[in-house]
Amino acid sequence: MTLLPMPPEDPPRASPDCHPATVLGNRIVADRYWRMSLAAPHVAQTARPGQFVLLTPSHSPEDSVVLPRPMAIYDTDASAGTIDILYGVVGFGTRQLTTFHIGDGITTVGPLGRPFEVAAGTRRLLLIGRGIGACSLTLLARAQVARGAEVVALLSGRHADAVIGAELCRSTGAQVLEVNDADGSSAPTALHARLLDLLDGEPPQFIASCGSDRLANLAQTLGRRWGTAVQVSVEAHMACGLGYCHGCSTGRQGDSVESPLVCTVGPVFELASP
Ligand SMILES: Cc1cc2nc3c(=O)[nH]c(=O)nc-3n(C[C@H](O)[C@H](O)[C@H](O)COP(=O)(O)OP(=O)(O)OC[C@H]3O[C@@H](n4cnc5c(N)ncnc54)[C@H](O)[C@@H]3O)c2cc1C
Ligand code: FES
Repeated sequence: MTLLPMPPEDPPRASPDCHPATVLGNRIVADRYWRMSLAAPHVAQTARPGQFVLLTPSHSPEDSVVLPRPMAIYDTDASAGTIDILYGVVGFGTRQLTTFHIGDGITTVGPLGRPFEVAAGTRRLLLIGRGIGACSLTLLARAQVARGAEVVALLSGRHADAVIGAELCRSTGAQVLEVNDADGSSAPTALHARLLDLLDGEPPQFIASCGSDRLANLAQTLGRRWGTAVQVSVEAHMACGLGYCHGCSTGRQGDSVESPLVCTVGPVFELASP
């Protein structure tokens, strides 16, 4: 999978803001997944689909958590000035996030990162998300349906409860296909056949993918068949999230050339057609 930096931004990205956002809600929603709502007006009003925030899950400077955790912006309400984060509990930082209660402050930096870029006039889109990766696609579904496009969201998980974002995508008006490993419906060959059945007659003009290399490969195969642009949001371990530490580079491109930084050049990249 070859990732290409996106073209220059238009309009330019809003500057990130750093402040203690107030927790408005933090509850378990399914399996090991929690949803946190935050009063964060600047992020709510300026975030674009595919961007993320950094949350520092410490209650006080004495806490041992130093590094913030990157989280996709799952939903926003610009008029209320709120954002929602959906997170999976995987390690110390995300366990700490579960200890935040209504009224607590949590240091939040954002919005950050390169958003998805959909060409004006795009009428049909296919979004392909796996597990928590679907959180990077929900704002895209909402924005594109709102401007009148048809959106098909294929959401995959290990089992039915691990399919993320189906309810939210459905509420935007997107057509949602839920698949999972437990019943075999998420197998790439089955998905390939199903998507051809559904979309080959009138293919999408844009494909976005997040959360799985296998599904990104499927997106690439379909993109090649249909001559469709594919953009993929990738994850990387992050320390600063701001372009300083270079911990999030996707690898090396040569002896002395570093691959692009996921936090600033990404997390959204174009997928090159081999
Ligand atoms: C752009 C972006 C958006 C993301 N959006 C979401 C989301 O919406 N919901 C969600 O649940 N998770 C999301 N993640 C993954 C999330 O950041 C990690 O699961 C989280 O940082 C793990 O922290 P931890 O302390 O619980 O785990 P630990 O494994 O204890 O983390 C140790 C360190 O590794 C880093 N790390 C571990 N796993 C990852 C990972 N997969 N990606 C990046 N850094 C990692 C942490 O930042 C931390 O510094 C996103 C990651 C990126 C890069
Ligand atoms: S996380 Fe520090 S440069 Fe990207």
